[in-house]
Amino acid sequence: MSTTSPADHDESMLDGVGVTTFLGDVDRHMLELVDAYDGPVAAAARRPIAAGGKRLRPLLVRAARPRALDSDSQASMAFDTCSLRAGAAVELIHTASLVHDDLLDGADLRRGEPTIGATSGRDVAIAAGDLLFSLAFDTLVQCRAATDVPRVQRATRVLARAARTLAQGEAMQARQLRLPYLGEGAYLDRCGMKTGVLFEAALQLGAILGGAELEDVDLLGRFGRTVGTAFQLADDVLDCGTPDAEAILGKRPGADLRDGTMTLPMLRAVQEDAELGELLAAPIADDQVEPLLDRIRATGALETSTAFARSMARDAEALLAQLDGRFELGPLHRIAAASVDRIS
Ligand code: FPP
Ligand code: MG
Repeated sequence: MSTTSPADHDESMLDGVGVTTFLGDVDRHMLELVDAYDGPVAAAARRPIAAGGKRLRPLLVRAARPRALDSDSQASMAFDTCSLRAGAAVELIHTASLVHDDLLDGADLRRGEPTIGATSGRDVAIAAGDLLFSLAFDTLVQCRAATDVPRVQRATRVLARAARTLAQGEAMQARQLRLPYLGEGAYLDRCGMKTGVLFEAALQLGAILGGAELEDVDLLGRFGRTVGTAFQLADDVLDCGTPDAEAILGKRPGADLRDGTMTLPMLRAVQEDAELGELLAAPIADDQVEPLLDRIRATGALETSTAFARSMARDAEALLAQLDGRFELGPLHRIAAASVDRIS
């Protein structure tokens, strides 16, 4: 079993606010939560946490720390406690959703490690995802020992809404299978629901628990949803990449094509190559994946999709000027840039 190494984290994006310690604490807290249970399900649930990851969502919770807290050490300490729990909560929901997603996709590799479904089977993977999901709410509600109960209630509602939207996004994806002429708007809605919403919730949790004004909570949420959508777009571009994208993705490229998930590069490619539309509407055999990826790449759709993802990240960054003075904007700019940097 691998352990989380500091190198997995993206602490460079938030340097100066104790982020290395914070992310290490979030990892330790998540492991403590699962380690409170014995048996094969808890042992399986531990593995995707220990496999590490970018921990972007906990970083977002931390990045939403209002600067006003600096002048009040008690409120600042309460934020430290709550942001640790909220950071773990969003990462646990994310991890739970990946465990279930891998089952739905029949995937055998995630974060460079065999999936739970591949090693322990379907029943254990379902239960492990459920355990991670329930632990997220368990830790978040315990913020009530450190801060106002109404804030914790608001934060819990935000997280519950995000989890529900994730599931709706996944259901939408199932309805959009093998529809090569799907509108780009419907695709972007799905990305917002599947991925944007948890980035949105992470920032809102940090802002709510830090006592930010409602307008700032909303604005940070809009920023997060846009960045998260750009992040999903980048992921979808990488999935159409050559096999060397595996090192960046921690999973095999071509998965979307194999399971019929239509992504922006595919929707754009069929506009240039009409026969491709017919091919993507039908189940795809394994030996057709690489030739079809070549054909998608030949249309230039990866380049235009990359440019689109970058423009979304810039749109998100443009929102930040409205928060000037009340939040540290540097880390937020860096996270927005990093959401699409992987496809450079
Ligand atoms: C990974 O993206 C998957 C998601 C972002 C969401 C998955 C959501 C569910 C399975 C619904 C269940 C939700 C909860 C809260 C337990 P992807 O499928 O685009 O990427 P991949 O190539 O890594 O699979
Ligand atoms: Mg998937």
